[in-house]
Amino acid sequence: MAVRIFDNHDLSGHNTFGMKVSCARYLEYESVAELEALDFDSLPSPLLHVGGGSNLLFSGDFKGTILHSAIRYIKYVDLGFDDVPVMVGAGVTFDDFVAQTCSHGLWGAENLSLIPGEVGGAAVQNIGAYGVEVCDIISGVVCYDLHKRKKIKFSTEECHYGYRDSIFKRPENKGRYVVTGVLFRLSRKPKPRLEYKGVREALGGAVPKTPQEVRDAIIRIRREKLPDPAVTGSAGSFFKNPVVAREVFERISPDGSAPHFDLPDGMVKIPAAWLIDQCGLRGASHGGAAVHEKQPLVIINASGKASPEEVLTLERKIISEVENKFGITLQPEVVHVS
Ligand code: EPU
Repeated sequence: MAVRIFDNHDLSGHNTFGMKVSCARYLEYESVAELEALDFDSLPSPLLHVGGGSNLLFSGDFKGTILHSAIRYIKYVDLGFDDVPVMVGAGVTFDDFVAQTCSHGLWGAENLSLIPGEVGGAAVQNIGAYGVEVCDIISGVVCYDLHKRKKIKFSTEECHYGYRDSIFKRPENKGRYVVTGVLFRLSRKPKPRLEYKGVREALGGAVPKTPQEVRDAIIRIRREKLPDPAVTGSAGSFFKNPVVAREVFERISPDGSAPHFDLPDGMVKIPAAWLIDQCGLRGASHGGAAVHEKQPLVIINASGKASPEEVLTLERKIISEVENKFGITLQPEVVHVS
């Protein structure tokens, strides 16, 4: 057990976009005790905690300290009930957790298969895919409060989860809470979630008997649409799907034929991929950055050498063309770090 510290550290391997940037200091710890013992005041500021770097766009070299958790454990509290609590360290690769729980026949995480990133980031970002958000299976989040320098627990309600949102993302909490562990609640009883378009079809119409069958189907869908992270850099969906008033949707699509999802509060969610597609931007590029052909919500590092400025220019182009055509301002889902 040791804290690992590197100065002027290359961050290429710590952001899935593959931006060639560096940070003044990189610090990785393996336990909460190591985190607590750090002398934060002596570290180059600002401090930024990153997980897998799968939802970040660095716009240049980072002047401060990047903190990274290597707290990696998966503990099952299996008392024979249908519900199985599982406590997981923030530094566990999220998909390792999904793979392991599926192989144990536990239901809950299977629709979130193959999402890049780590468990701590997943709880901050409220990652979601194929009809499931991670908050659906979270019972609580354990953090270290950098302001008060003490451990603190949040129940799921206290996390105030929303679409790709949580209390940890609020501006007033920026840099305050470090997630150290997440308590999940999985189920031994089958709970397949097959409502999302394409999931039943990928299962060949059969009712899945194991979470592994669902995981395999989700992996097939993702591999068809999303770039392979081992080959092409990206940060997944670059924008959030906009949520608009019904009148806005009716103005855009008077006959209601455009893809959309009616939300319980009367608002309408429109797929940003469709808006971008309608602007003819599928495959558009700027320098080494491009709009992914198979899923226009994803900006890729097509050349492998794209600069932050090239990605940012393409981002501005997409925002302005969607704004001009539809009067909707897309909000990035990817966190910009300067
Ligand atoms: N669409 C198009 N053209 C396309 C692709 C999609 O018009 O080329 C339209 C279609 O109408 C389609 C709809 O967009 O039905 C939704 O597409 P998709 O199912 O691919 O999902 P998404 O809304 O584009 C969201 C998440 C993804 C997640 C998928 C699957 C956000 C920002 N993104 O994308 O999450 O994997 O649903 O559930 O909500 C991520 O957050 O990084 C991410 C990849």
